[in-house]
Amino acid sequence: MAQQHDRILILDFGSQVTQLIARRLREAGVYCEIWPFNGAPEERVRGFAPRGVILSGGPASTTEDASPRVPDHVFTLGVPVLGICYGQQAMCLQLGGTVEGHEHREFGRAYVEVQEDSALTQGVWAKGAREQVWMSHGDRVTALPPGFRTVATSEGAPFAITADEARRFYGVQFHPEVVHTPHGAALLRNFAHAICGCTGDWTMAAYRAEMVGRIRALVGGGRVVCGLSGGVDSSVAAVLIHEAIGDQLTCIYVDHGLMRANESAQVVSTFRDRFNIRLVHRDASELFLGQLSGVTDPEVKRKTIGRLFIEVFEEEQARLGGADFLAQGTLYPDVIESVSATGGPSVTIKSHHNVGGLPEGMRMRLVEPLRELFKDEVRELGRELGIPEEIVGRHPFPGPGLAIRIPGEVTREKADLLRRVDSIFLEEIRAAGLYDAIWQAFAVLLPVRTVGVMGDGRTYDQACALRAVTSTDGMTAEFYPFDMGFLGRVANRIVNEVRGINRVTYDITSKPPGTIEWE
Ligand code: XMP
Repeated sequence: MAQQHDRILILDFGSQVTQLIARRLREAGVYCEIWPFNGAPEERVRGFAPRGVILSGGPASTTEDASPRVPDHVFTLGVPVLGICYGQQAMCLQLGGTVEGHEHREFGRAYVEVQEDSALTQGVWAKGAREQVWMSHGDRVTALPPGFRTVATSEGAPFAITADEARRFYGVQFHPEVVHTPHGAALLRNFAHAICGCTGDWTMAAYRAEMVGRIRALVGGGRVVCGLSGGVDSSVAAVLIHEAIGDQLTCIYVDHGLMRANESAQVVSTFRDRFNIRLVHRDASELFLGQLSGVTDPEVKRKTIGRLFIEVFEEEQARLGGADFLAQGTLYPDVIESVSATGGPSVTIKSHHNVGGLPEGMRMRLVEPLRELFKDEVRELGRELGIPEEIVGRHPFPGPGLAIRIPGEVTREKADLLRRVDSIFLEEIRAAGLYDAIWQAFAVLLPVRTVGVMGDGRTYDQACALRAVTSTDGMTAEFYPFDMGFLGRVANRIVNEVRGINRVTYDITSKPPGTIEWE
């Protein structure tokens, strides 16, 4: 835990957007953690020593008996508290106000009228202004607790912003953490900086220096192995650990032969040549492709690749003479304890997932230097460490690689064909300046042959599909609306330059109901 930074505690009541509160605070240079509302006993909270507490929104209704409550010690901690939506309602109710269900529910864009000045709105919203916010509530506060006053109202919420400046307790009925509240980030920054007194000392440069010390202290003279995948997380973890312990780190890159064009060469040249990291590059493509021969079921493909990956990794690890620590690029969203959807007391820990699915039985201690970071912070840290933009800004790529983009049996020839299609598509996307606007873009080799005509001759070749989506976390996705000119250009190039492909389609399915990958 980063003890020396000013920190804010976010108590989660189960809102879908709680993580965004943390991201906005981090963007404001403030370290914060998300804990479930019922996982914050007084001792733990005092030990964490937050400069302020934020109560998130949530799906429950305070009008129901079994609904979640704010631990009472939060209100006697002596630090500022900001309640958002459900958090505001629970705070008001517990401090002596009332909350009622109301038939005028507000969902989506709404406007607040700022009636009074307050420390929360200082420098952001002036008295008398009408400002856009994002609302999502059925219940609302109907009477304020003693000491509170109204700062802003909206049509559906007479107490859209409330404040008890003496105790430094604030409540907002809307969601300042979402982008649809245009000045929401500034309000949260005000809370963290002006009200809680955080200095904004959470930067990736500071994190880098601090983490180097922490890795050294943890590892001592031990040896660390790191499974490199070529993706952002394992790359940043490897370079950071290398900065801390140099040659005590060895990276293992298991090349399953199902990477995109030039990716393996790039991994080797970046890590071995540029960063001087000890790197074992194991070309296991024969083994993987051999075992995938005849396999057409997507789940069997995934399991086969996962199993072989572990086998090869363990083999290389043993060849190195073992190690004391295993490095993993686990991120903060993987370790946040989540509140159950009902807001009830059951708490589950999200299962950790990592690119290669490394063995659970491996008896090594873990080094997870990115455990406190969000993806965008990992990218920033990577830039801070001098990792090239092609790696730091890279789209996600699935562990099983191209195998799940080749429906039907996977062969080396098919993988080669797909690599060529994929690289033309990505080249054009980069040339059009669209790469960073897209979450993921790739090609899929279809197990269908279709008739075409080229010159004077008839062709009977394979079809491919192109897929590009926007997303914020991969859980939902929208297909990317390329203009037709762009798609036409890409299709032309593919059919002209890749022998064996005579038809190109564009996948316009969103997720749900489709998934991003085809298998
Ligand atoms: P789907 O296809 O489920 O994919 O919509 C969501 C995101 O997860 C990636 N993905 C994987 N990543 N190992 C990974 O590391 C896997 O087995 C795997 N399968 C899917 C996918 O590329 C997308 O970003």
